[in-house]
Amino acid sequence: MITHSQIFKGAEKYMRVRKNDVHIPISYYYAMQLTEQYPNADKELVAAAIILHDIGWYSIDEDDIFKKGFQSENFMQSDVRYLHETEGVRLSAEVLADLDCTKEFIQKVGIIIDGHDTRNFARSLEDEIVRDADKLWRFTVAGVSVACDWFKQNPTQYCNRLGTDIIPQLHLAESVAMAKADLEETKKVLCCDVL
Ligand SMILES: [Fe+2]
Ligand SMILES: [Fe+2]
Repeated sequence: MITHSQIFKGAEKYMRVRKNDVHIPISYYYAMQLTEQYPNADKELVAAAIILHDIGWYSIDEDDIFKKGFQSENFMQSDVRYLHETEGVRLSAEVLADLDCTKEFIQKVGIIIDGHDTRNFARSLEDEIVRDADKLWRFTVAGVSVACDWFKQNPTQYCNRLGTDIIPQLHLAESVAMAKADLEETKKVLCCDVL
């Protein structure tokens, strides 16, 4: 069986874009926390999907990523959003094939990556965990620091957006609890009551 470290090493060359080398490890950490709470979930599928879900951003010009994928009207349905998903499916298949994964496993990973940002529903428990972990990193100090710039907001404005827009999108009760606890701590650390 392949290790999670092997998948990270396979993905590494695609991760130095859009701070994915920060986003992906933190989201992986949350995904593994959630799999502890859901022992029935396929942990190996969750790990591969969360590590590889955003490597498709590598194929897209970084100016376009932010202008179209974050700062435009209806950015969640922008063409670069769809493109990073299809490129993610393609590149993840290459990474996993190089690690001798089965076709069936590669396909299951692709099903989660496909539409991970542009769908508003989950296809399985593993998909729910990946979708929640993809968002949970943003509630950390590092996540707020990075993502507030993507949306041209200050940290306090971005923390407020997390509370109003992102928490309602989480699937699992455990994710909501972690998000709320992390947000409270992050607001305290970043002095959001003053700034
Ligand atoms: Fe994404
Ligand atoms: Fe992501």
